[in-house]
Amino acid sequence: MNNPRQHSGRIAVVTGAASGIGLQVAQDLAQQGAMVCIVDRNGAAAEEAAQAIAQAGGRAAAFVVDLADMEAVQAMLGRLGRQFPAIDILVNNAGIVSTQPALDVGLPQWNATLAVNLTAPMVLTQHVLPGMRAKGWGRIVNVSSISGVRAGTGRLAYGTSKAALIAMTGQFAIESAEWGVTVNAIAPGFVDTPMIRTLHGSSRQSTYMDVCPMNRFCSAEEVASAVLFFASDQASFITGQTLGVDGGYLASGLFMRNLFDIPAATPARAPAA
Ligand SMILES: NC(=O)c1ccc[n+]([C@@H]2O[C@H](COP(=O)([O-])OP(=O)(O)OC[C@H]3O[C@@H](n4cnc5c(N)ncnc54)[C@H](O)[C@@H]3O)[C@@H](O)[C@H]2O)c1
Repeated sequence: MNNPRQHSGRIAVVTGAASGIGLQVAQDLAQQGAMVCIVDRNGAAAEEAAQAIAQAGGRAAAFVVDLADMEAVQAMLGRLGRQFPAIDILVNNAGIVSTQPALDVGLPQWNATLAVNLTAPMVLTQHVLPGMRAKGWGRIVNVSSISGVRAGTGRLAYGTSKAALIAMTGQFAIESAEWGVTVNAIAPGFVDTPMIRTLHGSSRQSTYMDVCPMNRFCSAEEVASAVLFFASDQASFITGQTLGVDGGYLASGLFMRNLFDIPAATPARAPAA
């Protein structure tokens, strides 16, 4: 039976929690009782998110850091460790994306993408794992992408980083399993967040809709519910997995919306509230 306050007394760290998917995850974890550490480079938005959680009756604190800067990350982990010596839940959600032809991706772009999307999750995971092992309970959820499973035009740095994050999920999972610590990943399709609104023009958006069997974007709430499942007590025997949250995108091969004379479900059903 699902306890709606099952994370009471637990400490959660959510990166990129000042916006989009991370913000929703932070709010949901706080609602289930966790004290949430909001790790983000956007200080004003992180403070605002922490205050909104407090106003809703939850507990949260902002930790401002640029996850691309490993010295700053180490300093932030020092502050975090002094305040919260043991972390129960880590959600590696912060990510950056760009769309460039493979031959135009320069080293700065490549290095920055791998630093935020892969190296920071590795460093944060190494930081939290000893405490989780000592307690015999821990949950780590990595936010990858459909781009980490399937190649996409313009996704050299991003797709490679997200594929490596999935590989890393398995590596940490099998070396943590005996201690009751699970490590899983989710692979969302297009999610309606500030990232996607600023990144994609209407033609990439409609191309995606065409190949997404559900014919719509995912909501941040739908992604967060998958993260919350992996973070739950109920998911205790599931580790090393990657779950597509993608409206059927990864399951489909040759997908032809109009091949049969079946009335379309128009307008496409809106994301669940
Ligand atoms: N939106 C989508 O369609 C989609 C699809 C698949 C996967 N994802 C993944 O979901 C995650 C969250 O994406 P979102 O859509 O919510 O994005 P978003 O832009 O709305 O939020 C990202 C958050 O991460 C923070 N962040 C970015 N770089 C950072 C850095 N260097 N240091 C600290 N904080 C940093 C930002 O300040 C922001 O608060 C990302 O990893 C993204 O790759 C998103």
